[in-house]
Amino acid sequence: MPILNFSPEGKVALVSGANRGIGKAIAIELLEKGAKKVYAGSRDIAALENLSSRYKDRIVPIRLDVTQDSEIAEAVDTARDVNILVNNAGVLQQGGFFSKETLNAFKIHLDVNVWGLVKLTHALIETLKINRPAAIINISSVSGLGNMPIIGSYSATKATVHSITQGMRAELAGENILVMGVYPGPIDTDMAKGVDIEKDTPENVAKNLIEAMTHGEEDVFPDVMSVQVGKDYMANPKGVEKAFAEYLG
Ligand SMILES: NC(=O)c1ccc[n+]([C@@H]2O[C@H](COP(=O)([O-])OP(=O)(O)OC[C@H]3O[C@@H](n4cnc5c(N)ncnc54)[C@H](OP(=O)(O)O)[C@@H]3O)[C@@H](O)[C@H]2O)c1
Repeated sequence: MPILNFSPEGKVALVSGANRGIGKAIAIELLEKGAKKVYAGSRDIAALENLSSRYKDRIVPIRLDVTQDSEIAEAVDTARDVNILVNNAGVLQQGGFFSKETLNAFKIHLDVNVWGLVKLTHALIETLKINRPAAIINISSVSGLGNMPIIGSYSATKATVHSITQGMRAELAGENILVMGVYPGPIDTDMAKGVDIEKDTPENVAKNLIEAMTHGEEDVFPDVMSVQVGKDYMANPKGVEKAFAEYLG
């Protein structure tokens, strides 16, 4: 059963990739909505200075490269009171399956977007169970619902995140742990820099996502484009595939 009324009030979160973009906005939104503390994961602790000076000891900076097993282990050892895990860290390189960069790009996408998420969640699950009620928030993408061939390799890993989210949800059914899949469209962060398309803000994504958590929603379409894609996907998944293919031109 989904958890209803899962408010951030008084909760403790760990957000990967919290130093910029959507992850930073989520960390801020959680704190503004009453979370007690956020463990802010970043590959570069210095990049968290801004958050730390604003929120003082409610932000606990942790060095966290999700491809480094030792850093995951240290993070889990530190963050023993966590009950919200936000798997946000991600990378995007352009390209599909037949360019010469494909194999390298695919490996990077898999290492961060998939393995990083799986390993961090796997390492933290006992903590989340101890601290229930809990939530696992996985940031996928609309491109995880239909492959977007201009970013085909990235899309494939976001589809994997979608599938992992469903699997985690099923395995944790009845455990009082809300498992959310989040499917943003284009958002105005460094990741989407140079993409000439209308974008929503990371702040909007964070606001809608935390609101959705409060209502125990499992599938979240947190911005203008994703709301439409979400509806299209539910009605006609083949149509989404065809529409995304058109971006190839
Ligand atoms: N922007 C969009 O249009 C969009 C749309 C749909 C989904 N998303 C997803 O939203 C999430 C956040 O993306 P964003 O738009 O905020 O992008 P962003 O501004 O590029 O931020 C990405 C974050 O991930 C971190 N990161 C990258 N590799 C990492 C690693 N190995 N270990 C730990 N952290 C790592 C980055 O840290 P560094 O600063 O150290 O690089 C940064 O904090 C991603 O999962 C992305 O796929 C974004």
